[in-house]
Amino acid sequence: MKTLIDQISAVLSEGFAAAGYDPALGRATASNRPDLCQYQCNGAMAGAKRYHKAPLVIAQEVAAAVGNHPMFSKLEAVRPGFLNLDLSPDFLADRLAELEADPLRGVEQAEQPLTIVVDYGGPNVAKPLHVGHLRSAIIGESIKRTCRFLGHKVIGDVHLGDWGLQMGQIITELRCRQPELPYFDESFAGPYPEEAPFTISDLEEIYPTASARCKVDEDYRRAAQNATWELQSGRPGYRALWRHIVNVSVSDLKRNYDRLDVDFDLWYGESDAQPYITPMVDAMKEGGYAYLSDGALVVDVQEESDTREVPPCLILKSDGAAQYETTDLATIVQREKDFHPDRMIYLADKRQELHYVRVFRCAYKTGLVDRDGCSLEYVGFGTINGKDGKPFKTREGGVLRLEYLLEDVSQAVYEKSKAANPSLSEEELREIADKVGLAAIKYGDLSNQPAKDYIFDIEKFTAFEGNTGPYIMYTMVRIKSILARYAAAFPEAEAGRILPPESRSETGLALALCRFNEAVYEAYDQKAPSRLCRYIYDLTGALNQFYVEHNIMKEPDAARQAGYIALIRLVLHVLETAIDLLGFSAPDRM
Ligand code: ARG
Repeated sequence: MKTLIDQISAVLSEGFAAAGYDPALGRATASNRPDLCQYQCNGAMAGAKRYHKAPLVIAQEVAAAVGNHPMFSKLEAVRPGFLNLDLSPDFLADRLAELEADPLRGVEQAEQPLTIVVDYGGPNVAKPLHVGHLRSAIIGESIKRTCRFLGHKVIGDVHLGDWGLQMGQIITELRCRQPELPYFDESFAGPYPEEAPFTISDLEEIYPTASARCKVDEDYRRAAQNATWELQSGRPGYRALWRHIVNVSVSDLKRNYDRLDVDFDLWYGESDAQPYITPMVDAMKEGGYAYLSDGALVVDVQEESDTREVPPCLILKSDGAAQYETTDLATIVQREKDFHPDRMIYLADKRQELHYVRVFRCAYKTGLVDRDGCSLEYVGFGTINGKDGKPFKTREGGVLRLEYLLEDVSQAVYEKSKAANPSLSEEELREIADKVGLAAIKYGDLSNQPAKDYIFDIEKFTAFEGNTGPYIMYTMVRIKSILARYAAAFPEAEAGRILPPESRSETGLALALCRFNEAVYEAYDQKAPSRLCRYIYDLTGALNQFYVEHNIMKEPDAARQAGYIALIRLVLHVLETAIDLLGFSAPDRM
């Protein structure tokens, strides 16, 4: 289904053409004076100079050319030359009927589906998932779902950080603690034990210890660098140990992402790019792109138009170890081979921007991907801050584990639901707390533009009123309860038909429903789930206006009442679709 704006614009453009003007002038916009009309077109004003005519005259001619179009209940030329218009109630009712029948609620499938890789999540093995990785998961999941909803072939890849210095650090620390393990014995012929010699909690203690020691102990740091290099070069014991580290971490990560309702098609890591590194580096050297600078292999990526310095892309360090850039570049090679994607979208902290600028430039320059064939895109997001405006921390000042954050939010919702609805069972309350808690976190995040930092305020995010996830949940639960009450009161009633809207609030609600596809297209085009949040908030606002003007359960006209029920059921369905794109779902009660 076309968007309302496009449909209106098409009719107006024909009018402009019929009156002898450029059809491009017929572009409509939502009215900036909703008290006067629903949509407007400023084309006559724009054309006045070109056609040496008073804009009002042009507008009048266009209005006359369009005539009594069934789409409009009003189309008028007003001073100084605007076209103001309202959609006819019958047109709106027809359109709502189409929306009801369409499981995609008016969203058209892409004519040419693209293959899109979304690289998000990006956790590092051996580190518990913490708040710093929350946004990547939340925003990436929504972008992935939105692309998929439009019919594109989308592959979500978690891109584990599993190949860098932290691996060498852990190996070094383990070696200090348990030198007797077979992984360190170079003469050991295998097979290595199947059980990991540590648990996830061990790892979570080992890693920070090792990383701290690296900062103060020169020998230890060199040992860790060396272990990293040996791992990357394939030392069997280190590979076996590394497998354990990855496996133990991944099962913990999966559990956490499950709770976030975030799931990945691929659990690849930086390490999976390893086989592509050597041929890629060779090609870069042969192509004359890569050269040695202070022992390191680099590719220049500075461009003439740059107003800042863009340092060369580091391909291999002087010791030959792969860098963050190296694995990202080799991963591009891998993805190109496996999927030949049209787009690769990366989600990462906005402080990593320069990294992506360099990697993308290098990938294009060295021909890993074709500039016209594949767009490499980066969505940088801001930091989650505490109320003090500084990056969110635990009360003790450490990085907050995601699990604990989820628990805190869920607990806050639990208490609120319990107070609001004491009749709910403990089990129901827990289930509600988890669902609504997740909505609180995700909506709280997604309603901000990705690039902006925001303050994570549990009180505010879990409030049942205002522009919050729980408020959206509450709105949906309320619809469900009206639908249930209606079904109980009128068990014989047949499914109603949505009638042409009469009142102002009913019309407002109808218009809001019809704009769903527009919001989805914008969220997709701008890679901005915040557009969908804005839409959801507007739709729930329109619904509340409707409730104020209409008492559905007390409506005396049965057909009208059934029409209202059908209308709010459609609101529920649109909301369900919308929040699914944001990555959460609503409970039945709360
Ligand atoms: N592991 C990285 C980090 O923690 C994020 C990875 C993002 N994806 C990528 N392809 N570089 O910062």
